[in-house]
Amino acid sequence: MSKLDLRRPEAASPTRLCADIEHVDWLALIEVFERAPLGKRDPKLLEQSFRNSSVVCFAYHGGQIIGAGRALSDRLTWTVIFDLALAPEFQGRGLGRAILQDLQARAGGASTMLHSAPGKEPFYQHLGFRRMKTAMAQFAKPELARDRGFTD
Ligand SMILES: CC(C)(COP(=O)(O)OP(=O)(O)OC[C@H]1O[C@@H](n2cnc3c(N)ncnc32)[C@H](O)[C@@H]1OP(=O)(O)O)[C@@H](O)C(=O)NCCC(=O)NCCS
Repeated sequence: MSKLDLRRPEAASPTRLCADIEHVDWLALIEVFERAPLGKRDPKLLEQSFRNSSVVCFAYHGGQIIGAGRALSDRLTWTVIFDLALAPEFQGRGLGRAILQDLQARAGGASTMLHSAPGKEPFYQHLGFRRMKTAMAQFAKPELARDRGFTD
């Protein structure tokens, strides 16, 4: 399958990125996250966390939502990325990079931080991210975070 190049305006592709939060089908996005797979999400919590974010990005193919990402940012020094995911059939086409870079560009933080899903570190390393030696987190559900491989 050929790679999608979102930088080519002439590319005859129905795939596009969009920042409009008012017309998102949240149940369809929940399904994308579940299939990605990023686990089951509560629709209200997912919607509210996107609405409370500094910058959001949604990927569509035709009229169908196929991916998303969001960022918190002070728009000066730091951007933190969350919930970057694509439906499996749209992974590996350059969309993950496109969403991430769109969020970074619009969020405006000089530095970017995120925690990778276990096993996805090589994707971020490939895009220039480096493993943090002193990252610390206080998870709301510490046992779950440990079971999912986020903490020791
Ligand atoms: C992780 C994810 C967002 C990456 O998005 P993607 O669209 O599949 O990746 P892209 O096609 O944009 O890849 C961009 C570059 O990274 C590389 N890459 C992608 N996944 C990689 C991996 N697992 N390891 C190493 N390199 C990887 C690609 O080869 C590509 O390189 P190139 O263009 O220089 O040849 C996507 O696969 C996904 O949604 N996975 C499931 C959900 C998830 O784990 N999300 C991460 C939460 S932290």
